[in-house]
Amino acid sequence: MTINADRLWARIEALSRITDPDRPWTRRSFSPLFLKGREWLAREFRASGLETSIDAAGNLVGRLAGSDPDLKPIVIGSHSDTVPSGGRYDGILGVIAGLEVAQSLLERGERLRHPLEIYDFLAEEPSEFGLSCIGSRALAGMLSDEMLNLRRPDGMTLMEGLAYVGGDPESLASVRRPSDGTAAYVEVHIEQGRVLEQENIAIGIVTDIVGIHRERITVVGRADHAGATPMPLRADALVGAARIVEMVYDRALALAGGDKPLVATIGKLDVQPNAANAVPGEVEMVLEVRCGDETVTRTFPASLIEEVRPSLAALGLDIRVEPVSHASPTPCAPIVRDAIRAAASSLGLSSRDLPSGAGHDGVFVAQTGPIGMIFVPCRDGRSHAPDELIEPHQAADGARVLFETVRRLDTILG
Ligand code: HGY
Ligand code: MN
Ligand code: MN
Repeated sequence: MTINADRLWARIEALSRITDPDRPWTRRSFSPLFLKGREWLAREFRASGLETSIDAAGNLVGRLAGSDPDLKPIVIGSHSDTVPSGGRYDGILGVIAGLEVAQSLLERGERLRHPLEIYDFLAEEPSEFGLSCIGSRALAGMLSDEMLNLRRPDGMTLMEGLAYVGGDPESLASVRRPSDGTAAYVEVHIEQGRVLEQENIAIGIVTDIVGIHRERITVVGRADHAGATPMPLRADALVGAARIVEMVYDRALALAGGDKPLVATIGKLDVQPNAANAVPGEVEMVLEVRCGDETVTRTFPASLIEEVRPSLAALGLDIRVEPVSHASPTPCAPIVRDAIRAAASSLGLSSRDLPSGAGHDGVFVAQTGPIGMIFVPCRDGRSHAPDELIEPHQAADGARVLFETVRRLDTILG
C-alpha cells in the first residue's frame, strides 16, 4: 500500500461536512465557512509535516523540500471552494489526495528530488466577484488590476477579498511564476461526466481542458408599477432576458453535434427590483460558452446579441454587454499524460484518454509548466449538484495513481 485510503476518505468526509447546513454542499470562496475549511486544511497540512502558508494570492500552500535545490517544484493542486449547493468532492478530492501523497512520502522516508507543493487554489469556481480560478490566475500573472477592482454585491473589492482570506494584494508579483517555473502540475478530480462510469474504467487521463468564455449581459428596461402600468406601455427587462435565454439554448443545441461540441449556459440572473408587484426594470445575467474551438467561444455571444437586439428594441429594451473572463482551451502535456498512463498500468488500473468539459486551475498553471489531470468516475456523471457522489475506492484509486505519477515525474524530469 502506498497511500492510506482510510485516512484519505476520512479527510474528504471531514472537509465536505464543513458546509452551509441549509444548502449542502456549500463552502463559497471568501465566506466565513471557506475560512473555517481552510483553517482545518492548514492544520492537517501542518500536522502532516508540510511547511504551510497562505501566499499573496490567497492560495493555501504546503511544501516538502526536495533533495536537489536546483530543481523547480512538482505541484499538486485543486480547490476547496464550491459552487452553491454542490461540490461535495469537486475540488477537495484533488487537494486532499495531494496531502495524502505528501504525507505518505514522508512516512515512507522517501524524499523526492524536486520540491513538492500542494496547492488549495483560491476560488476556482466563479466567486461572488464574478471571477473564477483567482489563485491560479495569479501564478500565471493573469490577475489584472481591472479584476482586482471587481466588486461583489456587498461592495467589497476583490483586492479586499484577497486580504480577507490572508493574501497580500500588494505583493502579487511574488506569486507569479515564469513559463518554466513549475516542473509539472498534476490534479486529481472527479470526471463530472459519464464516460468512465459507463465504460467501467478506473482512471481518466485528460487530453485537454475546454475553453470557457463568460460575458455579462444586462437587459435594460424600466421598472414600473405592476398593477397600474398598461401592457403596451411596459419595457419589461425579464421578457427580453427570456428571449435571450431561449435563443442561447436553441443556438447551442444546433451546434451540439459538431466535432468540437459547444455548450452555452445562462445560469445566473439578477432581476431588479425583483418584486412581485413591479415590472422588471433590469436583468443582469452571465452567458457562459464552452468549446474546444476558441474562435467559436468568442463569436457565439457577439452574433447572438446582434441578432436579438432589434427584437429587444421593439420591446423598448436596450442591451449592455461586458466581458467577464476568457480561458483558452488547454492541452495536457504528453510527458504528464504518459506518466499517468504508466502509473495506472503499474497499479493494474484500467485507464483511457478523455477531454475535460469542466474548467480547472490547470488552464492557468499551464502557463508555468507542463500539466496533467487524473479523473476518477462519479455516480451518473452528476456534479455541481447536491447528489454528486464517489465511492471511497474511487478516491483511493485517484490518489494511488497520483502518488505513482509524481514519483515517475520526479525521476524523468530535469
Ligand atoms: O466551472 C467549471 O467547469 C469548474 O467546475 N469550475
Ligand atoms: Mn466545479
Ligand atoms: Mn473543480
